[in-house]
Amino acid sequence: MAHIEPYRRLSLNKEILMGSRRTLIAGNWKMNGSRHSLSVLAEIARPTNDLPPHIEVVLFPPATLLAQTATLAKKTASKLGGQDCSSNSAGAFTGELSAAMLNDFRATYGLLGHSEGRTRHGESDDLVRQKSIQALDAGMIAVICIGETRDEKEAGRTFDVLADQLAHSVPKFSSADRIVIAYEPMWAIGTGTTPSVEEIEGAHAHLRDCLTFEWGANAGLISILYGGSVSPHNAMEILGLPSVDGLLIGGASLNPAKSAAICSNAAALHMGAGA
Ligand code: PGA
Repeated sequence: MAHIEPYRRLSLNKEILMGSRRTLIAGNWKMNGSRHSLSVLAEIARPTNDLPPHIEVVLFPPATLLAQTATLAKKTASKLGGQDCSSNSAGAFTGELSAAMLNDFRATYGLLGHSEGRTRHGESDDLVRQKSIQALDAGMIAVICIGETRDEKEAGRTFDVLADQLAHSVPKFSSADRIVIAYEPMWAIGTGTTPSVEEIEGAHAHLRDCLTFEWGANAGLISILYGGSVSPHNAMEILGLPSVDGLLIGGASLNPAKSAAICSNAAALHMGAGA
């Protein structure tokens, strides 16, 4: 990750650039964890009490652990989210969970359009948008994931793919302050490989332009997170980029020490930026 200095200097103005949008550190536990392992995972929530109030930590446990995580998270500043939700509100949809059901278990965020759902279950942008509408209707904040494949990147199509996914996955006419975009290049997820800081900054700036084109001034309320192989080694650099409003963390979010380190990085960066 070269040439970080100019970006770090810029990050001093980040609070001003961001206005009132959220800074999020989100942990996607995916299909991991059991009641037995929950006490270890609950350690993850602890450092959040030391974070400045404008940084929100959101945990996305599997649905089976929502109730217990909600109880543990009560003692902390962490928020809860549901991984995915149905595109329907109720009825004969065996195996699906509605956004309202997740919200009933104190999930105030919904994670939609993750690349694992898009690739494994063929979720289309249209379906992701329907699910996002359900999450918003249930009063939740919709975290909508988008990202290019390696082939699309190598073909130089990243910006087009992102613009297209954004245009079709994000519900229009909703409250901008309840929409969060997570840019997760598919080739970076779980691989230990991340884009360069210039590529991340470029993709986020492009997304910001697309959002502004569609939403006008309200686009300023939409946070854009980066996800894909975030670790304590790269979190500070990525979070220091002016166009990055937070992180969506998979593997490292299951490790209490790594989670604590990433949260400390976020706190240090934001305290520094505010100074
Ligand atoms: P990773 O996953 O941090 O393990 O790459 C990120 C994600 O899938 O959200």
